[in-house]
Amino acid sequence: MKILVTGGAGFIGSHVVEALLKEGYTPIVLDDLSNGDIRNVPAGVKFYNTHLFSRKIRMIFKKERPDIVIHLAAQIDVSKSIEDPVEDAMVNIVGTIKLLQYCKEYKVRKFIFSSSSAVYGETVNLAIHENTSTNPISFYGTSKLVSEEYIELFNKIHGIPYTILRYANVFGPRQKADGEGGVVSIFIKQMLKGEAPLIFGDGNQTRDFVYVEDVAKANVLAIKNGKNGIYNISYNQQTSINDLYNIIAQKLNLNHSPLYKPARDGDILHSQLDNHHAIEQLKWEPSWTVESGIVKTIEYFANE
Ligand SMILES: NC(=O)c1ccc[n+]([C@@H]2O[C@H](COP(=O)([O-])OP(=O)(O)OC[C@H]3O[C@@H](n4cnc5c(N)ncnc54)[C@H](O)[C@@H]3O)[C@@H](O)[C@H]2O)c1
Repeated sequence: MKILVTGGAGFIGSHVVEALLKEGYTPIVLDDLSNGDIRNVPAGVKFYNTHLFSRKIRMIFKKERPDIVIHLAAQIDVSKSIEDPVEDAMVNIVGTIKLLQYCKEYKVRKFIFSSSSAVYGETVNLAIHENTSTNPISFYGTSKLVSEEYIELFNKIHGIPYTILRYANVFGPRQKADGEGGVVSIFIKQMLKGEAPLIFGDGNQTRDFVYVEDVAKANVLAIKNGKNGIYNISYNQQTSINDLYNIIAQKLNLNHSPLYKPARDGDILHSQLDNHHAIEQLKWEPSWTVESGIVKTIEYFANE
């Protein structure tokens, strides 16, 4: 089965490609390398260096006739979305609509979309369920929410089956400093050099960190088990930024203190996503704890 993976040269996308190969699928990668790296694409996987707006995309659909599209390519930086909401909306919203048009034209059997906990915004009650009201506090969160609505409407109007995965904060090998889970890779890289990391706010803000291989597994399971619907993909636990610092410091035997700076605009205070819907319907569950994922990520960056 042919699977077109947009953003497949990026952090999560490259792990999705590896997981697809392991399960015997044929992934094809489409990525403009604006934030990805060709070295992330496994040898032998067909790669198209193409922007989502390129006319070449039609040719790719025509030639490859993918059965499934897994759409991860996006502008992923929350701060950038606040600085330049137009660019964010162009890539994230219009880019998604363009792909959906090709999916309709070339009769793709399922559209699997990488959404985000950013669609929920600041919520009162944790853990957040998929039917919790959405209230994004960044243009990035809005661009993901609007994309979800287009996907749902393409299903209603044109019958394109879909599965939407709302990730918590993903972390793991190959992650760059930007993106929503970037704090793990930033801390590890700085602390490996013996530098004290910078914490925005008092460090008591929490995130729900989920390891990238678990996220990749959710994408693969969504192919067969995903219904037309939305699934949180999370570890379902809160870890504070101070705790994160302490875990890494303990693994690296460091005892200096982090530096603190004022909180940033658009940052959510606390986050925890309920993952029971994915456990029940996708038959997915996280295999990695925050700690075991951090050990693996330290190993990766130490050898880089
Ligand atoms: N990392 C997280 O914690 C997290 C959390 C929630 C959702 N997500 C979503 O998961 C997806 C993957 O994120 P990631 O962290 O792997 O980021 P990433 O930047 O590593 O991956 C995105 C890839 O898309 C490519 N890309 C960007 N714009 C493109 C365009 N216009 N045309 C073609 N390719 C383009 C980039 O080159 C990059 O390789 C994104 O949709 C992101 O919004 C990530």
